[in-house]
Amino acid sequence: MTDRYAVFGNPIGHSKSPAIHARFAAQTGQDIRYEALLAPLDGFAAAVDSFRAAGGKGANVTVPFKEEAFRLAHRLTPRAERAGAVNTLAFGADGILGDNTDGAGLTRDIEANVGIPMAGKRVLVLGAGGAARGAIAPLLGCRPQSLTLANRSADKAAALAGEFSDLDRISGGGFADLAGRVFDVVINATSASLAGEALPLPPGLFAPGSLAYDMMYGRGDTPFLALARQQGAGLLADGLGMLVEQAAEAFLLWRGVRPATAPVLAALRAELGHPRATP
Ligand code: ATR
Repeated sequence: MTDRYAVFGNPIGHSKSPAIHARFAAQTGQDIRYEALLAPLDGFAAAVDSFRAAGGKGANVTVPFKEEAFRLAHRLTPRAERAGAVNTLAFGADGILGDNTDGAGLTRDIEANVGIPMAGKRVLVLGAGGAARGAIAPLLGCRPQSLTLANRSADKAAALAGEFSDLDRISGGGFADLAGRVFDVVINATSASLAGEALPLPPGLFAPGSLAYDMMYGRGDTPFLALARQQGAGLLADGLGMLVEQAAEAFLLWRGVRPATAPVLAALRAELGHPRATP
């Protein structure tokens, strides 16, 4: 019997997850079917319930349901608990397990695919919403020299940093507080690129050879990557690798096998015409 998986979101039409998981399944010889399912904005829990009742084994969850999935899960992995959001559900006899593979996908993409180890580096995260929150503990796990959060609403970044002060050297504030500071890795975790907007960042943020990383992706530079290129970032990367890596983590949780991500990412970039953005 073929095991069924799905990704739930709204909208979901352009999801690349089915193509990614189909490639993982072919590569590892796993007999699974993975589909994209549109959940009504007020009907996420019901959609998950009926998929589970129909024999579904697990699911990914995307915008705007990650916080609801967090509340829906009966058990949480420690990283999901810290993130306050769930992007991966596994259905078992003992209920629904909620995990969050986004942060691990981000750090793996930066360190293994882009090839920038973050230990000892000055890392800046832009944004203080769900995407930023999920990235913090995994980033701290990479042992950066410092982790700075900056957000349009400065108090949100300060509060978020405060939640993690037990863990490591982390601070938060507004974009203006960044004036005069320099970073080795700058990660855009805001949704500003979605709206096609650039961030009001002070000049001089990018150290020579620094990495500018946008969790979003699109054809060509996102507005953030365009700005980073202008300001002299040494290396640019979009979030397509993070998407593939978070999927691989979910696949590992479900199937107990870690697929090789490099060939899948390369195939996806070729298909979509999204070359990795490097200056
Ligand atoms: P996500 O789950 O994608 O993180 P979110 O929780 O709604 O979405 O958070 C969106 C983030 O993008 C926030 O940090 C938001 O800043 P505010 O907290 O000040 O609202 C940021 N953001 C969205 N649009 C932005 C824009 N045009 N300029 C700057 N920051 C923006």
